Amino acid sequence: MHLRVDTYLLRLKDIIFDIVNSIPYNRVKKIFDQRSEVLDEVEWLRDKELLNVIKNFVDPEDSDRLLDVATGTGALLSYFSCYVQEAHGIDISGKMVAKTQKNVLNSDEACRDNMASITVQDVHNLEFPKNYFDIIVCRNGLHHFIGIKKALMEMRRVLKKSTGKIVIVEGIALNENDVALWRSILELKDPARRNSFATLHSGNYEAFFAQLLIKAGLHYERSRIYCVDRSVKNWLRGINGIRGVKYKHRIMQLLRSAPEEFKMRYNMREKGDDIIMVHPVVMIQARDTLTEEV
Ligand SMILES: C[S@@+](CC[C@H](N)C(=O)[O-])C[C@H]1O[C@@H](n2cnc3c(N)ncnc32)[C@H](O)[C@@H]1O
Repeated sequence: MHLRVDTYLLRLKDIIFDIVNSIPYNRVKKIFDQRSEVLDEVEWLRDKELLNVIKNFVDPEDSDRLLDVATGTGALLSYFSCYVQEAHGIDISGKMVAKTQKNVLNSDEACRDNMASITVQDVHNLEFPKNYFDIIVCRNGLHHFIGIKKALMEMRRVLKKSTGKIVIVEGIALNENDVALWRSILELKDPARRNSFATLHSGNYEAFFAQLLIKAGLHYERSRIYCVDRSVKNWLRGINGIRGVKYKHRIMQLLRSAPEEFKMRYNMREKGDDIIMVHPVVMIQARDTLTEEV
């Protein structure tokens, strides 16, 4: 895959930014313990259509054993538990895990029976045996991990070698021209985010992920972009207690003063004091490189 020199320079700048700004684990845990109070209120994470699109992309089988990495309050985990034999979820935040365990009690009984474990674990050091999972999913987790290569290598270790697949879900910009604005917004919103992920757009994500995955012995297989409608006000509830009102106002201001073509691309509409717009997510499927040789 061909990468231009300016793309390399941009990536180098982001890597340096990430190192300089890297947040220690206890801070990440603290931020997400706080966020566990409000994550369930963030509606797009539980959007049925999006969950269904992800499920169809992952294409699980009834007999599969699945791991949801960085499960948060378990939106994806609960959904998938209805379609596999055994569902496991892990998260570094004890409060997120406690919330997921509570949420699961309210889920459909038949699906609840498939819920095998929900535990506090760090993705960089998973407590599962090797060659264990048919499917590993990770939505909006990767951009928080401090050692992304190590995290992917751990996922690879616990993945079944010949048949297993990993599906990563991350938000991206629709166009290269939108990256600067998104990056400003995400820096305001999310103190625990790795900056290099804020530069992803529809034209560079394949090369970005292919490079990231190959370092961990995985290969990029296929992807799909899907746009989910989202209330900006509701999205920003996810940072209650972490970022004050002035950050939210600034984000709203940035969106309202965005170029017309940006507003059209994201189908931005005013609704009372809220903004409704689409949020593009990309689903990436990866496999162990060894599967090519089998
Ligand atoms: C935005 S939430 C993801 C929510 C969930 N995956 C979903 O889609 O509904 C990000 C999660 O990553 C978790 N996380 C961050 N670093 C982690 C690590 N090193 N190991 C495991 N989980 C981690 C956080 O605790 C948080 O719950």
